[in-house]
Amino acid sequence: MRFDILTLFPNMFASPLRESILGKAIEKGLIQIQTINIRDFTLDKHQVVDDPPYGGGQGMVMKVEPIARAVESVKSQNPSAWTIYLTPQGKPFNQDLARRLSTQPHFILLCGRYEGVDERVRDLFIDEEISIGDYVLTGGELAAMVLIDAVSRFIPGVLGSDRSAEEDSFFNSLLEYPQYTRPFDFRGSCVPEVLLSGNHSAISLWRRKEALRRTSLRRPDLLGKANLTEEDKKLLEEILQQNRREKAGNGI
Ligand code: ADE
Repeated sequence: MRFDILTLFPNMFASPLRESILGKAIEKGLIQIQTINIRDFTLDKHQVVDDPPYGGGQGMVMKVEPIARAVESVKSQNPSAWTIYLTPQGKPFNQDLARRLSTQPHFILLCGRYEGVDERVRDLFIDEEISIGDYVLTGGELAAMVLIDAVSRFIPGVLGSDRSAEEDSFFNSLLEYPQYTRPFDFRGSCVPEVLLSGNHSAISLWRRKEALRRTSLRRPDLLGKANLTEEDKKLLEEILQQNRREKAGNGI
């Protein structure tokens, strides 16, 4: 999978994507990341990339011509590269969207700055607009990194041969169960005994119940979307009863 990132700040990408799992994925040739400085596609002496908005108002708007030339330089190598504009006005990014995008081989990621881009960039060059959350960042660069990270995890081999992104939180719309490692006893706080029992079916049942408990407490909105078995529904009923008993015990 290839990402061509169109940005005014290519140095922002130097380290974050080259460490750890993504760094190894690049080394293995599973992903390719190239940053392209939009300023290099200006034709004037001062390399101007922004201008005040027509009609007046605050701030500056990114000009259409340098972006057009930058997009076209990538598209001249691959006309079907999927072009995404990172913007708080875009479609909310989530695990389902990351999975869907992971089937595409080549992306152009346009990172906006200032008050955004001239509207004609959107009309003429953008296939999809994506937001990573309802807050405004200083630019699309961090959002592009989030997208690259989440999408790359779905490429076979990126997480290692024995792991898959399908096991993570949000697969089947549940949060993950709690994890423990040594020591067994940390300052009196102990690992649940069942995890030391060697009884695999008891461990699986405990994990499923804790995933359901955690989801019902933290993200009850996800339970409506989850594919729950009859056993899950029974576990959930036990959890809800337990919660009610605990609330009553606390005098709430
Ligand atoms: N650029 C600025 N804020 C953003 C956001 N929340 N998501 C994507 N791109 C952005």
